[in-house]
Formats: sequence, C-alpha cells, structure tokens
Amino acid sequence: MAHSDNYSIMLHGGAGALDNVKDDKTAVRYLESIRSILEHGRKVMTLGGSALQAVETCASLLEDDPVFNAGCGSVLNENGKVEMDAAIMDGRDLSAGAVAAVDNIANPIQLARLVMTESEHVMLIAEGAMRFADHCGMERAPEHYFYTPDRVEQLRQARLQHKIMLDHDDTEEDSEDQKYGTIGAIARDPQGNLAAATSTGGIVNKRMGRVGDSPIVGAGVFADNETCAVSATGYGEDFMRTVISKTISDFMLMRDMNASQATQAGIDYLTRKVKGRGGVIVIDKQGNCSSGFTTKKMIHGWIEHGSKPVVRF
Ligand code: GLY
Repeated sequence: MAHSDNYSIMLHGGAGALDNVKDDKTAVRYLESIRSILEHGRKVMTLGGSALQAVETCASLLEDDPVFNAGCGSVLNENGKVEMDAAIMDGRDLSAGAVAAVDNIANPIQLARLVMTESEHVMLIAEGAMRFADHCGMERAPEHYFYTPDRVEQLRQARLQHKIMLDHDDTEEDSEDQKYGTIGAIARDPQGNLAAATSTGGIVNKRMGRVGDSPIVGAGVFADNETCAVSATGYGEDFMRTVISKTISDFMLMRDMNASQATQAGIDYLTRKVKGRGGVIVIDKQGNCSSGFTTKKMIHGWIEHGSKPVVRF
C-alpha cells in the first residue's frame, strides 16, 4: 500500500431498531447512500485533502440526504419545528466547533466548522448561532427545505405514542424507527491526522431547547491524534452522562487498548452504567476501524486503509 493510500473513513447514519427498514429496497437506499458518500470521502483523501476536510464533506452530504436525521431530514420537536445540533473536531490540536438548536441552516456541520475557525468559541447556540451564520454570510434555507412528509408523519406517531404511554403508564418496548438517528463521519488521513463530525435533528417530539450529545465534545464527538476519532449516535442523554467518546479515547490512552477493545469497553460501560441506547464508530491512530452498538442496528460503513468500502446495519 502506497503511503498516500493509507487513509480510513467511517460513517454512520443512525442507530435504532430501524423498524422502517422492512424491505430490501429501503435497506439498499440507506446503504447505497453510505457507500456513495464514503467514495466522496475517498476522493477528498486521494486529492490530498485532510481528515478534517473529508469529515466535513461526508457529514454535509449525509445532511443533504433526507433519509437521515440531520440537515434536511431532521426530525421535528414538540412544536413541529426543526432544531439541529452539530460539532466538528480536529485531532491535530483538539480544536472544535459546535452549534446547538439551530434552524434554517442546510448544513449545520459547516456552521460548526466556522465556529471552530472563525470565532474564539467552541459552541454557539440558537439565535446567537444564527446571527453568527449571518455574520459569516451563510445562506438561510427556507422552512420547506426541512419538512419532509416522513418527518411530519413521524411526529404525529410520536405524539400518539406518547399519549398511549401516559394512558397506560407503560414504557412499551421501543419501536425506535430512526428515533436515535444522527449522522457521523470520522477519518484518518495519510499524515495520521484524525477528525470527527456529528450532526443531528435530535429526537422526535423532543422538548424545545433540548440539546443532545452530538454537539458536546467528548460525548457525541471526539478526535485526538494521540488516540482516536469517535462519533456517536443514540439517545443523547445516555451519551452525555457517560461522556462516551472521551471515555473510549481514555481507554486507549490510559489502558493501551486498540480500537476494537476500546470500543467494546466503551459499549460495556455505556450499558453497565446507564443501559445506554445507541452506538459509536471509532478509528484509532493507526487507522483501524471499529464499531459497536447496543440497539438492534446501526447504519454504518467504512473504508479501512484505503480498501473497498464496507457497508452494513
Ligand atoms: N444522538 C442524538 C441526540 O440525542 O440528539
């Protein structure tokens, strides 16, 4: 393998029961999107782009595909509104940028990158983040860009289920149906630099103002050239409480674990401590790819050391 081919990229498109993936056609639709976006990431790498450029490109493309819960496919909150969270992190120097509770932005991951590079802060939220977007000349996307018929129907169902659950005081086994959806992209470039990006519309029927793990450094996203890049997808509150992405990095740093050992240790911790629901993708500093999840499925795929892409649930 030539040195320039030694790059790795991993993507995820959400975790859950994915009960909506009932037929082969839907499954193929998800997996083909992941496969094609992995190839875009490869192109960035082969043209000499950095891990950071690759994750921003891939995360933007995932945000542009309405089947995923991020960008234009974002789920709706209790008020029937979109409120998106996103973060990006550069493993070279731990620089990071994040936005939370933003709307009318087609690619929140690009706004997060601007927070990282064009402001002195790590996170901007809601109106402040929107003003910063205006300041940077970022175009606002119209309301109708976000309201896919699937998401409107999903909110209707969630509201209905909520009522049923209250009526029967029953937690019902989750029919998760992308409820824990998020998108994520992580990469290692041939220079050994790691980067991570995570973006989401959050959870269906969430409270207005609720922020999940995706924009929180160490929870939904983490990258450090000394250890690994991580992106998480799942029930954000579980990932925030366990600081799961940093925990996985710490397993490598302090216990000398490799990618698969640290991923498994992270998933065990998530389960033992909070019965966490969701999953993670991980690339270590050598470019080894690993994944783990506690839900029935997680849509994900990877290119390891420049190899052919692998995609799966
Ligand atoms: N992991 C996405 C969220 O909880 O918002």
